[in-house]
Amino acid sequence: VAPVGRAAVGIVGAGQLARMLCQAAVGLGITPRLLAAVADDSAALVDPDVLLGDPGSLDALRALASTCAVTTFDHELVDPEHLVALEAEGHVLRPGAATAAVVVDKRRQRELIRDLGIVGPIWRALPNDAGEAAAGVRAHGGEHGWPVVLKAARGGYDGRGVRVVAGPSEVDGAVASMGAAPLLVEEGIDIAFEIAVQVVRRPGGEMVVYPVVETVQRDGICVEVVAPAAVEWEVALLAEGAARRLAEAIDLVGLLAVELFVDPHGRVTVNELAVRPHNSAHHTIEACETSQFENHLRAVLDLPLGATTLRAPHAVMVNVLGPPDGSDPADGLARALAVPGAHVHLYAKGAKAGRKLGHVTVCGDDADDVRARARRAAGALVGEG
Ligand SMILES: Nc1ncnc2c1ncn2[C@@H]1O[C@H](COP(=O)(O)OP(=O)(O)OP(=O)(O)O)[C@@H](O)[C@H]1O
Ligand SMILES: [Mg+2]
Repeated sequence: VAPVGRAAVGIVGAGQLARMLCQAAVGLGITPRLLAAVADDSAALVDPDVLLGDPGSLDALRALASTCAVTTFDHELVDPEHLVALEAEGHVLRPGAATAAVVVDKRRQRELIRDLGIVGPIWRALPNDAGEAAAGVRAHGGEHGWPVVLKAARGGYDGRGVRVVAGPSEVDGAVASMGAAPLLVEEGIDIAFEIAVQVVRRPGGEMVVYPVVETVQRDGICVEVVAPAAVEWEVALLAEGAARRLAEAIDLVGLLAVELFVDPHGRVTVNELAVRPHNSAHHTIEACETSQFENHLRAVLDLPLGATTLRAPHAVMVNVLGPPDGSDPADGLARALAVPGAHVHLYAKGAKAGRKLGHVTVCGDDADDVRARARRAAGALVGEG
C-alpha cells in the first residue's frame, strides 16, 4: 500500500528505540513513519504509519525516505552505500551517510578517535586471511600484553562480535569463531568501571550534553546505568569534551553515545560510538529535563534542543533481560509496579532468554535506595524475589 501524504519523520527500524522515539513524538504532535521488518516489531505495535520492508534493501529504504521530510534510524545495521545513494537522490537523512559510514565500522571509529588525539585502546586492523589475522593477534598480545580483545569491525551489538583472548593458545580458536567478518584486535583494558556520555547536535551545530553515567555490563550486555556517574570532575570533563569533538568531527545530527572505560589508575579510553538513541540514556525519560528520544527528534527536525539537567540527585536504570526459562516479564508487571517510584517500560517483544525486553528507572535522593528499588522492580519482572 502506498503511503498517504508525507510524514515529518521516517524511522528505519522498529525496535524498542523506535518505540520510545514514537512515545516522544506523541508530545510533539508527530506521527513517525516506520520501516519495520515485521508487523509485530516493538514500535510497529504502537504506530499506525508503518511500511513493511527489509531495512537491508535500497528499495525499502527509498520507499520510506522519499515520503518523509527527514529520515532517521533506530539501528546502525544499514548498508552505508544505500545511504549514499539516497542522499544523492535528494532525500534527507539524519544522521547523514558520511556520519553513518564512520560509525558503522569500528576501525573507522578507532581511526577517527586517534586522529582527534583522543585516547582509545591500542589496536590494529587484521588481515582477512585467518592465518595472517591470528599472527596479528599474537603480535599484538606480544607487544601490548595479554589478554587482548578480538572484535568484528561491523555488525556487532550486545557483546556479539567481541571476544576476550587470554593468551596465545586461544588465538586460532578465537579467530575461527569470528567467521568471515573483518576483524580488529585491541589491548584488553583492566576496567575499573565503564562510563558513557551522550551528546545531541542540531544541523547548525547547537549541542547539548547529558551528565556522564556509569554503565554496568554483564557478558558484554549493559545491565544497569547509574546517573550521574560517581567520577572525578576531570573524568567527566574529559568524556564530555571527547563527545563534543567527536560529534563535530562526524558532522553529527541527532544523538551520539560515547562509551568509555576507566582503569584502576584513572586512565580513560574511548571504546565506541553509536549514532542513535542509546541504552545508556534510557533513564533520561524520567530522570532528565528532556529525554534522549525527544532531543534526538528535536535535533533531526532542527528544533531547539531541550535541557539535559537531571531532575533528581540520582537515577538508576536496570535492563530487563529475558529470563532463562523464557517467561514473559509482563507476568510480573503488578509486582514491579508495587515498588515505589518504579517507572516500568516493557517493549512488547517476544520473550527470549537474554533478550532486552524492557527496563525500569527509579529516581530519588539516595543512591543506594534508588538502586535497590530499581533492581527490585526489574527483578519482579524476571520472576526473582
Ligand atoms: N578493549 C577492551 N578491554 C576490555 N574489555 C572490553 C574491551 N572492549 C570491549 N570490552 C567489553 O565488552 C563490552 C562490549 O564491547 P563493545 O561495546 O565494543 O561491543 P558491542 O557488542 O559493539 O557493544 P554494544 O552492545 O555496546 O554495541 C564492553 O562494554 C566491555 O565490557
Ligand atoms: Mg558497547
